[in-house]
Amino acid sequence: MGMEQTLIILKPDAVQRGLMGKIITRFEEKGLKVVGAKFMQISQELAATHYSDHRERPFYAGLVSFMTSSPVLVLALEGVGAIAVCRSMMGATFGSQAASGTIRGDYGVSNSFNLIHGSDSSEAAIKELGLFFNDGELINWNRASEGWVYDLSGDEPE
Ligand code: RTP
Ligand code: MG
Repeated sequence: MGMEQTLIILKPDAVQRGLMGKIITRFEEKGLKVVGAKFMQISQELAATHYSDHRERPFYAGLVSFMTSSPVLVLALEGVGAIAVCRSMMGATFGSQAASGTIRGDYGVSNSFNLIHGSDSSEAAIKELGLFFNDGELINWNRASEGWVYDLSGDEPE
């Protein structure tokens, strides 16, 4: 589990409720590095592609309608094991069941309006980053605090 990038979406409810800053702060304070960010309105086509694995599920139509209803903030986050780290910070899918201390657990009670999406595997992350970001939109930059976020004395950040 080395350095990974993952796709995070702050969903329409997070934007409308003014929670973008609080959620970004959690990721920054954890040590994740923002390498891409885009404020956008998701089209029907993009929502359908992004959630194509769920197209037979009973909640699919409502999910696409929700995700296209209002703007979202899309983030690309980088870190060691970033995919699993972000999923654990998000909490369980349903706000009513998500543990306190997680984003969904602390900020939501709804099961459908659950504030945030995060890639759930490295294959999904690669596919989703490609769907939401064009070439050149992910920025490779040097973070001044890197040597205090990670132990950089070995071959890999620890
Ligand atoms: P996400 O894909 O958004 O990161 O969420 P997840 O992996 O935790 O959940 P997933 O099973 O992939 O479901 C995708 C999104 O569909 C909505 N959903 N609603 N009402 C329902 O039964 C239901 N089940 C899922 C949620 O918005 C969930 O995040
Ligand atoms: Mg999912």
